[in-house]
Amino acid sequence: MRSLVLGGSGLLGRHLVLDLMHSGDISFTYFTNPHPIPGAQGHKLDLKDEKGLEVLIDKTDPDIIFHAIAPPSVDWHENERAAAYLTNVSSTRIIAERSRDMGAKLVYISTAFVFPDLEKIFNEDDIPAPINFYGATKLGGELASKQNPDHLIIRTDQIYGWSLPGQKKSFVEKTLEKLMRKENVEVCKDWLNSPTYVKDLSQAIIALTERKKRGTYHVVGSSFLDRVSWANKIATMFAQDTSLIRGIDSSSLNLPARRSNARLSNDKIREETGMRLKTVEEGLEAMKMEMDGHGDA
Ligand SMILES: NC(=O)c1ccc[n+]([C@@H]2O[C@H](COP(=O)([O-])OP(=O)(O)OC[C@H]3O[C@@H](n4cnc5c(N)ncnc54)[C@H](OP(=O)(O)O)[C@@H]3O)[C@@H](O)[C@H]2O)c1
Repeated sequence: MRSLVLGGSGLLGRHLVLDLMHSGDISFTYFTNPHPIPGAQGHKLDLKDEKGLEVLIDKTDPDIIFHAIAPPSVDWHENERAAAYLTNVSSTRIIAERSRDMGAKLVYISTAFVFPDLEKIFNEDDIPAPINFYGATKLGGELASKQNPDHLIIRTDQIYGWSLPGQKKSFVEKTLEKLMRKENVEVCKDWLNSPTYVKDLSQAIIALTERKKRGTYHVVGSSFLDRVSWANKIATMFAQDTSLIRGIDSSSLNLPARRSNARLSNDKIREETGMRLKTVEEGLEAMKMEMDGHGDA
């Protein structure tokens, strides 16, 4: 099998490449950080270069494309709307049409932010209603993916794990770095998430593709909690001082994008694959094992 991982230099993309390693030929893309992976072919790609994207897909001739490219941040989308639309929606349509025409499967990584800020547990059949431009363009990317009937849309939330130099750091690493420097850590007490351990996410996505699944799946960690509780769990797991952690109201930050506290149900993936994604405690424990050299990193 030939796989093309778009965004293979990112946190999730790199794990997908590593987990696919024994499945056949692997190509991946990077934008600013080459991060070579032995046994896989890296290609530089700027998603804004539509011609370059088409040429790359034709050249690598994949049986499956994983689209895990992400612009810098949720707030960036709010401020750079034209670029955000192009990156998340227009280019996804090209990828979907190209993969459809060559008979390849498309896996598109989406987000819990396609849903609004309501106190309910969203399943895959619920109707999305994003409250920020990031969510709107990711929903646009989902719709574009459907140009390929053999599509798999994965909605996830707050991916965490150890990053490489140059990769975006997750909430866990940013919090831990401040705690280790004995700095105060201010976190938004009104933001709630289902933190998702990157290795679980990568393995779940591959399990779904191996089972030839199509359609939409929610793949999130098994805990739903606010950022103060999450930061406290990080401090406790890594033996840091919890008194440095302070909850603040996100409104005090005047951020461009509103956050949605949407909670996703994991029932479908558990029922169809038997996979149970880690709780925050289990994911942090796995990160600690990796740090201590006992994990399977
Ligand atoms: N992180 C989360 O908490 C979260 C939550 C929900 C959904 N998601 C979705 O999950 C997927 C993976 O996220 P992630 O956190 O693993 O991403 P990430 O670590 O930020 O990696 C982003 C990837 O996109 C590449 N990239 C950025 N701008 C690009 C451009 N203009 N052209 C081509 N490539 C570009 C980066 O390349 P370089 O690093 O080489 O520049 C990198 O490979 C994304 O679709 C994201 O929307 C993430």
